[in-house]
Amino acid sequence: MSQIRLDKFISERTEYTRSQIKELAGQGKITADGGVCRKTDVKIDSETADVCVCGERIRNDIFRYILMNKPEGYVSSTDDSDGISVLELVPPQMKAKGLFPAGRLDKDSVGALLVTNDGGLAHRILSPKNHIPKIYIVKLAESFKSKYVDLFWRGIVLGDGEQCLPARVKSIGNCENMAFVELHEGKYHQVKRMFAAVGNHVEKLMRISVGGLVLPEKLGLGDCMELLHKDVENLFQPLDFDRFCDNFFSDFSAIPINK
Ligand code: URA
Repeated sequence: MSQIRLDKFISERTEYTRSQIKELAGQGKITADGGVCRKTDVKIDSETADVCVCGERIRNDIFRYILMNKPEGYVSSTDDSDGISVLELVPPQMKAKGLFPAGRLDKDSVGALLVTNDGGLAHRILSPKNHIPKIYIVKLAESFKSKYVDLFWRGIVLGDGEQCLPARVKSIGNCENMAFVELHEGKYHQVKRMFAAVGNHVEKLMRISVGGLVLPEKLGLGDCMELLHKDVENLFQPLDFDRFCDNFFSDFSAIPINK
């Protein structure tokens, strides 16, 4: 049992400010366990209370985990200073205080991006020591060369001399200019710079997995789905890269960026 003030409970879980909450309570638009609450300083049980604001039930848990299929043209940051933030794509019913993208995808990249307000989880995902693998599909300007497999595995040295960790790369079936790439780190523009270092150029890039969390084909560009805490733990159960690539076409009927 965890007692908390009604206004604190609502403000921690929604975008309503304390003054808006007070106003709504005065208008009789807030209920707790079926009864109208006109006072916002009443204590409720944060684990079990059934609180509604304007008829919408407020979830008891604070943390939100949203898997987004990021489209092109949006920036992976919380503010709009460099372009429109991916947070603008989060539908109102999934919004919560303190959401941020846990990881980065370039403005022109698409695919799996986790949006959360759980700083502890984000730290676990982003911490270099956890080496959470991420798998991308790239469309290249020039055809894929078999020598890339060895070069990537030995660790690419980027144009500025920076050394990358060993990475896996694999051509995609009969598409000569497409490949899967698996990285265990996240340097700035890393995939693009790795292919530039071997004399190729990434035209399109899509992230299809973060750890064991795979972007579902049914999640269209710009769409979001809420994850349960148990799904989020999949992040820490990495995929088998070879098996994943081999099975990819039974999971995806078309390559999402091959247009
Ligand atoms: N590597 C890149 O170059 N861009 C991304 O968006 C992600 C990885």
